Amino acid sequence: MAVTRWIPDEAVKILAEAGEVRVSSADRPLSVAELREFTAGASAIVGMLHDRIDGEVADAAGPQLKVVANVAVGYDNVDVPALAERGVVVTNTPGVLTEATADLTFGLILALTRRLGEGERLIRAREPWSFHLGFLLGSGLQGKTLGVVGLGQIGRAVARRALAFGMRIVYTGRKPAPSEVESALAAEFVPLPELLERADVVSLHCPLTAATRHLIDADALRAMKPGAYLVNTTRGPVVDEAALSDALEAGEIAGAALDVFEREPSVEERLLEREDVVLTPHLGSATVETRTEMAVLAARNVVSVLAGNGPLTEVQA
Ligand code: DGY
Repeated sequence: MAVTRWIPDEAVKILAEAGEVRVSSADRPLSVAELREFTAGASAIVGMLHDRIDGEVADAAGPQLKVVANVAVGYDNVDVPALAERGVVVTNTPGVLTEATADLTFGLILALTRRLGEGERLIRAREPWSFHLGFLLGSGLQGKTLGVVGLGQIGRAVARRALAFGMRIVYTGRKPAPSEVESALAAEFVPLPELLERADVVSLHCPLTAATRHLIDADALRAMKPGAYLVNTTRGPVVDEAALSDALEAGEIAGAALDVFEREPSVEERLLEREDVVLTPHLGSATVETRTEMAVLAARNVVSVLAGNGPLTEVQA
């Protein structure tokens, strides 16, 4: 079993009960060549976000490869059809990171609308300041509209938090959510153009696919309200970062918070200069508890597949 980067000990122990485990000691993502070399001969690959696991990696690993367990709910880094063709099962880690990712998303919404980053930078820069009634005013959330793009598990968890803050929810996606979900969230299904027109905060929770790459492009940004905010905690390429910088420069929207980047870990240079942008380094699921649960679920998937019992959380090709 080949684990492409550090995972918590709890997960290594589970894997070790099923056979020999090697964990990459490189404190960085493996290059394509290193990944192929490292996984050669493995019956299972435990990979993550930065590993591009495709048919060629599977071929280099060899015919004994049975399972690729991605330690993430997103699996755009894995060529699932190519692996299915080779009889390799792919698994992900849904569910266990929902609340942590929704917490981070809401933290970003608050940081953005209440200008927390700006305030923090000002104090650390030892700038003089004093309380006054017009100082660093943000925008309240109560009575505002949250537009959720993709009302899956994470989108719903963000919407629940927004309800508690007194927000209204509109959402879009491939199809409406079940009616009990809609009524619990008082959420209204609308097409994307209408969501962009109505939302004060647009929060992205759709997976990255060919259809969602650059879903938020120059036209989409232009369709948003001038005072609206964009939040992205799903995958960077859902947003055209150059178009986002242009829109912010032109005052077409009020600000953006990004936890994920189009060319991660690089960030569009112009965004780094802006006060109306909050940037975090892919921290959505980054709690000790959640990352442990993700790795343990990936390890359990591996053990279950290798024991012939099938995957626990399989990604369908
Ligand atoms: C996920 O689970 O998809 C997170 O983005 C971590 O990769």
